[in-house]
Amino acid sequence: MEQNIKQVLITEEELQNKIKELGEQITEDYKGKDLILICVLKGAVMFMADLAKNIDLPLTMDFMAVSSYGSSTESSGVVKIIKDLDTSIEGKEVLIVEDIIDTGLTLSYLLENLKSRGPKSVKICTLLDKPERRKADIKYDYKGFTVPDEFVVGYGLDFDEKYRNLPYICVLKEEVYSK
Ligand code: PRP
Ligand code: MN
Ligand code: MG
Repeated sequence: MEQNIKQVLITEEELQNKIKELGEQITEDYKGKDLILICVLKGAVMFMADLAKNIDLPLTMDFMAVSSYGSSTESSGVVKIIKDLDTSIEGKEVLIVEDIIDTGLTLSYLLENLKSRGPKSVKICTLLDKPERRKADIKYDYKGFTVPDEFVVGYGLDFDEKYRNLPYICVLKEEVYSK
């Protein structure tokens, strides 16, 4: 895989240090509250796992799969639920865990959808923010890093379903996308 990588943007160590910080902040903010982490599959899977290990609270976790990209590199704006939550979020403090906010269309849909289920609160924790391509105005509560307008992969983020297992965030060489 290494030969396809143009540049590493965020190293494994930088990711883990930031996630530790985020975990500590969330631990402080949600003390005594009934917190549920909601992982947006599949991209947020690595982030969710590492973040949860850094939150020192009796939280619960659930998983939701929505899709906006298919296998292309451009957001279509069409969001569909592929897998819904298994549990009710009524009366709970919900924290949505996402890998990246790009156009914001995925989260704006998800936010409205989850708010309609009667939770006590809904907040957003995103690992990456790519503000340059925003189409929907999304206000998040926790963020790891801001990234430039490049197609980033690794640590959960894919190109054509691959590269999710890289432990860092990187940009692929142009020829990989044009194949
Ligand atoms: C990607 C990414 C975010 C979303 C961000 O997911 O993981 O969930 O797109 O894009 P947006 O802000 O423009 O909506 P994708 O739909 O590719 O599914 P995946 O997580 O399974 O890769
Ligand atoms: Mn995703
Ligand atoms: Mg994807």
